Amino acid sequence: MCLIHAGSPVKAWVKTAGVWRGYEGEFGMKIYKQAITAVGMVILLTAVTAGYAADPTKGAKLYNQHCVDCHGTNGDGQMPGVPDFRRTQVLFKPDTVLSETIQRGKNVMPGFAGVLTRDQINDVIAYLRTLH
Ligand code: HEC
Repeated sequence: MCLIHAGSPVKAWVKTAGVWRGYEGEFGMKIYKQAITAVGMVILLTAVTAGYAADPTKGAKLYNQHCVDCHGTNGDGQMPGVPDFRRTQVLFKPDTVLSETIQRGKNVMPGFAGVLTRDQINDVIAYLRTLH
């Protein structure tokens, strides 16, 4: 979509099936606004993903405060039913899925929503991925 022509009666140019079409008036304005929103969303998403890199060192501290009692110093599990993080298939799930589970809890494991922030949980996950 081309935004340069926004000042002319044609408010938005859209390429459909290889052909550029100009849209005028209110409809053009609507498409123009949608384009701006889309661009904004991309910038926002990029900022969110790029803005925070999970830190396994901070994660280690948090792990030793909140997780070590059940999961053990090496992530090997301190009681029956606790998965062994050193067997990497336990952590084959994407960070977002692990984060959800850690926030909500699972069976015996308590949820950490409200205890740890999402960033802190991502730090801990980054640390878990170093245990093998
Ligand atoms: C009270 C003990 C306990 C504490 C504290 C605890 N966990 Fe767990 N955790 C468990 C148990 C038990 C399971 C296995 C749950 C099941 O599959 O039934 C588990 C499972 C997991 C899993 C695997 C989830 C999956 O997808 O199957 C992850 C990841 C995990 N814990 C991370 C953490 C982190 C990170 C912390 C600290 C912030 C933590 N746990 C604190 C007991 C605990």
